[in-house]
Amino acid sequence: MLVQPAERLRGTVRVPGDKSIAHRALIIGSMAKGKHVVEGAPAGADLYSTVSCLRSLGAFIEEMPDGRLLVLSKEFVSGKHIDAGNSGTTARLLSGLLAGLPGETTIDGDESLRGRPMDRIVEPLSQMGADIATAPGGRLPITIRGGRLKAISHQPPVASAQVKSAILIAGLMAEGITVVEERVPTRDHTERLLAAMAVPVEIDGHKIAIRGGSVPRAAQVKIPGDLSSAAFFVVASVCVPGSELYLPTVGINPTRTGAIRVLQEMGASIELINHASFLEEPIADIVVKSSELRGTTIGHELIPSLIDELPIIAVAATQAEGETTVSGAKELRYKESDRIAAIVGNLKRMGADIEARDDGFVIRGPTRLKGNKVSSLGDHRVAMAMTIAGLLATGQTHIERSDIIGVSYPSFFKDLQTVSG
Ligand code: S3P
Repeated sequence: MLVQPAERLRGTVRVPGDKSIAHRALIIGSMAKGKHVVEGAPAGADLYSTVSCLRSLGAFIEEMPDGRLLVLSKEFVSGKHIDAGNSGTTARLLSGLLAGLPGETTIDGDESLRGRPMDRIVEPLSQMGADIATAPGGRLPITIRGGRLKAISHQPPVASAQVKSAILIAGLMAEGITVVEERVPTRDHTERLLAAMAVPVEIDGHKIAIRGGSVPRAAQVKIPGDLSSAAFFVVASVCVPGSELYLPTVGINPTRTGAIRVLQEMGASIELINHASFLEEPIADIVVKSSELRGTTIGHELIPSLIDELPIIAVAATQAEGETTVSGAKELRYKESDRIAAIVGNLKRMGADIEARDDGFVIRGPTRLKGNKVSSLGDHRVAMAMTIAGLLATGQTHIERSDIIGVSYPSFFKDLQTVSG
């Protein structure tokens, strides 16, 4: 993809539905009793990976003529080989489900997902009673022989909503009360959805407890716009002079809005209006205008609330006056690419003053970026962040492997063109 500098951005962007919530709505919906309906699921390949894995496991998921997805509970079947594609959430959350199913199932993924750590779910799920074999280094493919589970109390050593959710999903099928205690809270969509589906979930500070044997009740789930997709347009509108964008019905769950808070603190003009909620999830419309930014410090306690937004925050930081430091973000190295290496390597090629740290990076700005050849490294969020960097640069930016954007936001370039025109 060739990206040209932008003059200004104006108009409305309806971002796709929240990927994290949609995965959960389908997986937990497949475990529910009754007619479960999911509205506003995003079109990307990642969610399709969850749909096709669940279908292989025997779930009934059909698109209705109005675009909503109908999920009906069926008996799950094992003995299958399922493919999570590029999606970590699919592989990890479905491991929680498979831990409770009798029989053996193998989960595999693409080259990127095969490189990502699975030991973080293998360990607690094995402790609960599942029998799990992994490829060397605790990687995919993994084979899970599930069965009777017992509840555990677990303190995940890494802050991860995927790990927490895998354990809670297994906990639904376990004997006793399963407890996950987080050091730093991560996105709580699983807890909110379970509560909305009549499963008693007890939350006490950073401890989440779930009683085994509760069957979720089917619901009508309306998915808010994905803040992680909106973030690219938010930063574009802040950084391209003369811009103003309107992003309706975006999820603003406080465990996800770290990037909005940080950008506001950096001086960005971002307003949240028309507050409402979809089931248990808060939403709002975002109004964002171009603004002058100053550097900031982002420490470990903030990281889970903006983990997926760090590539685009880095782009914003190149336009900010002074230094921006990100630390406590080593998890970035285990995403769809090593995002610290990807961000630093690509932004350096465009002339940014940026240095990698083991657990983050330091950026000094402002810098007028220069168009160059960069690569997504097969990572959708890197590709979208570099596209926005290209809008701010002089000359053309050539993004290699930009088609990977289809895993989360297939209409990204089309939406960008609509507001650039
Ligand atoms: C997600 C949790 C985060 C996030 C990922 C989606 C989820 O991953 O980076 O894009 O839906 O639970 P970790 O749980 O690995 O932090």
